[in-house]
Amino acid sequence: MRPKIVVVTGRGGTGGELVRCTRAVDLMLARCSSAALRGLEAAEVNVEVDIAPGLPGLQIVGLADAPGRESRERVRAALRNSGFRVPLTRVIISLAPADLRKEGPAFDLPIALGLLLASGQLAPERLEGVWSAGELGLDGSLRPVRGVLALALAARRGGARALVVPAANGPEAMLVEGLVVWPAEGLSQVGALLDDPVRASPCRPAAALAAAPPPLELAEVRGQAHGRRALEIAAAGNHHLLLVGPPGSGKTMLARRLAGLLPPLPHAEALETTQVHSVAGLLRPNTALLQQRPFRAPHHSCTGSALIGGGAIPRPGELSLAHNGVLFLDELTEFRREVLDQLRQPLEEGEVWISRSRERSRFPCRVTLVAATNPCPCGWFGDPQRACRCGEAQRQRYWSRLSGPLLDRIDLQVVMRRLEADDLVQPYAVGRADGVERRSTQAVGQRVAAARQRMVSRNPGGCPNAGLVRADLQRHCRLSLEGLDLWRQAIQGRRLSARSAERLLRVARSLADLEDRERVEPAHLAEALTYRSFDQLQTTEPGGN
Ligand SMILES: Nc1ncnc2c1ncn2[C@@H]1O[C@H](COP(=O)(O)OP(=O)(O)OP(=O)(O)O)[C@@H](O)[C@H]1O
Ligand SMILES: [Mg+2]
Repeated sequence: MRPKIVVVTGRGGTGGELVRCTRAVDLMLARCSSAALRGLEAAEVNVEVDIAPGLPGLQIVGLADAPGRESRERVRAALRNSGFRVPLTRVIISLAPADLRKEGPAFDLPIALGLLLASGQLAPERLEGVWSAGELGLDGSLRPVRGVLALALAARRGGARALVVPAANGPEAMLVEGLVVWPAEGLSQVGALLDDPVRASPCRPAAALAAAPPPLELAEVRGQAHGRRALEIAAAGNHHLLLVGPPGSGKTMLARRLAGLLPPLPHAEALETTQVHSVAGLLRPNTALLQQRPFRAPHHSCTGSALIGGGAIPRPGELSLAHNGVLFLDELTEFRREVLDQLRQPLEEGEVWISRSRERSRFPCRVTLVAATNPCPCGWFGDPQRACRCGEAQRQRYWSRLSGPLLDRIDLQVVMRRLEADDLVQPYAVGRADGVERRSTQAVGQRVAAARQRMVSRNPGGCPNAGLVRADLQRHCRLSLEGLDLWRQAIQGRRLSARSAERLLRVARSLADLEDRERVEPAHLAEALTYRSFDQLQTTEPGGN
């Protein structure tokens, strides 16, 4: 019997090899392309399928045991239930390169397509240069997978002719310009798509632009003028903020209003934030671009890897999920100290590196941190009317739970007081007009946007004031003699470290931007000094003010 010659397909140019089979049945080797996530990026993975004589069996190598077994069962059932034939012979599927760690069900679709190709149910030229990813249901339906934006970027880099993804991931994949995306509901539709993409392609799924809920209203926060002003400065210059106050003073309420003061995400930043959420598997089906700045508030019981990121195949943590937005650590003293300490370096550098024996993954994390805490265990230290029941030793222990180095990285500290009765009852007065407009989220947001505009056009690379390095700080924060004097006195009088002294100047720069001033003036420095009130509280007598 003459050997049958069959053609193997592969990504643009890599296919075309000839394989000789010794039997006149369709036994062959096939190859198709997909990608595996590595941190925020994706790397090309070749799914190779070899159909050989032998007892029926399907073996997957290159995927961890359990996911491999599960994938095998899903693919078999999906093929059968979509009207395709499952080869009744020995099949080996290899996901190469073998030394790249892979996980997740996204390889179901390329495995199924490889099987169809190798068993002659799909013409090789149809799959030429086509990348794919998607989880298969037993009925052959395609379920969304995580990280599709990164996969689509890898496909474009790899010169893919088209990318087949589950329909629910379509809008996300289509964010990548210059890449042809074929979204499909199920395996049978993928078959039809590969046969005739024009006829089988449904109209492009509309990206669900989830109606953004209106931002929380800042004017609802009564009193607390110092806290509200600090929120405005934090938003203007991306300064980290600590709110300290008794129970019910509005710390949580205030912190939740910060994201609403920040300007909308520029496209490049929105894309990066979307990619982080996509890799974490948190992007909702049919969502394209995340247009709102994230606000993440992890619980204080969270672990270091939940906060910073981690896992055998690293995934982003809450810190990176807050990228370009706000990370809120409520009840700061309840977080484990070693967890808080892990924040130091990423907060400074704007990125997290997670090392594993085989690879290092990088996740971005440029966030504005807001932390809130009570001043002491009973919550009333420093209140003029309510006595604090904690002893000095108890208070010191409580404060020592706050990581000193972390506090050193916080530019704005605000000690809030209990809400005055007048502030609380005023809004209920008949015919009252109290200038709410000036305090509204919209008005403050406009002031913040104008200040940020100035900041971005002046600072190199659009760096926020909070991240100015020393050379730029010196260039953009020149002080008059009076200003220098005030700064010197503050450093000496409050025994500020070099880091804290420069933080003061950065806050003063944001205050000048909010006032549309070219120069940092003594008044800005003086106001900046009022945002070190937690330092002062710690040296106050109990009940003192
Ligand atoms: N300044 C305020 N203006 C208007 N309402 C306020 C204010 N402060 C507190 N409240 C009311 O009290 C509720 C509790 O406030 P919030 O949770 O912000 O306090 P907190 O300072 O975080 O307290 P805790 O220390 O117990 O966490 C709010 O939902 C709001 O209804
Ligand atoms: Mg609270």
